[in-house]
Amino acid sequence: MEWNPTQYAQFSDHRSRPFFDLLGRIPQLDPTSIVDLGCGPGNITEVLAQRWPQAQVLGLDSSPEMVARANAVAAAENLSFALADAASWDVPEGTDLLVSSAMLQWLDGHQVHLERWLRQLAPGAVVAIQVPGNFTSPSHAVMREVAQSPRWVEKLRGVLRHGDAVADPSDYQQLFIRCGLEADVWETTYQQLLTGADPVLSWVRGTALLPVKAALSAADYLAFEDDYRAAIAEHYPSFTALDGQLLTNFPFRRIFMVGRKN
Ligand SMILES: C[S@@+](CC[C@H](N)C(=O)[O-])C[C@H]1O[C@@H](n2cnc3c(N)ncnc32)[C@H](O)[C@@H]1O
Repeated sequence: MEWNPTQYAQFSDHRSRPFFDLLGRIPQLDPTSIVDLGCGPGNITEVLAQRWPQAQVLGLDSSPEMVARANAVAAAENLSFALADAASWDVPEGTDLLVSSAMLQWLDGHQVHLERWLRQLAPGAVVAIQVPGNFTSPSHAVMREVAQSPRWVEKLRGVLRHGDAVADPSDYQQLFIRCGLEADVWETTYQQLLTGADPVLSWVRGTALLPVKAALSAADYLAFEDDYRAAIAEHYPSFTALDGQLLTNFPFRRIFMVGRKN
């Protein structure tokens, strides 16, 4: 599956806002070593480097395209990026702050990995994580329905994540506490206003549709997009603002968890 940093960055304002909300809840900290796991194009990793200039900040991602983009745009001296697969990653000794924004949902069995990292954190270290909680919203539920329709079921069997790709906030809260952390867990549904035609399709092109694209031929993928576009239209009606701009509300639930190891 190939990530496209340009497509992903198309909605960078909406995609980075949860990170700033997460950052706002990180407790008083004087870190020397920070890891951003699943750093993507590196724009928010750079914010960490600017926020804590005395710390070394390492952005890790399994996508060569994302790491290349991050290396190309990041300027801060205390910032570096590397390829890593979170599935086989362990928290390096000395890590004071572990951040992960919108990555865990891509990792099969992520709660097992999260538990490992929480147990590996040293006393006093802080973890701050955000995951999308929108797998049952029409943007994703309808995608699974189209994938299960007779036209696509054979080619897309097992390709899309299920509605339970992320856990309930209370599950994460318990996991943090069982692993010896304080747990500050909450959820927010952003009423995201998107512009232009087919904005929800454009959004998921950068993320949720990537496994479908990887599984289909180019022609089949375009046909799938057509089916999906038609199926979601009724769920995300657009409206016209006073200045004539076409707007669509794309509600987006996100789950946040911040904790310090006791
Ligand atoms: C939705 S993007 C989030 C990027 C960035 N953290 C942000 O908040 O904008 C998800 C990122 O997770 C990365 N990712 C997915 N699975 C991963 C894994 N197993 N190990 C490391 N990174 C992974 C993807 O390559 C992608 O860059």
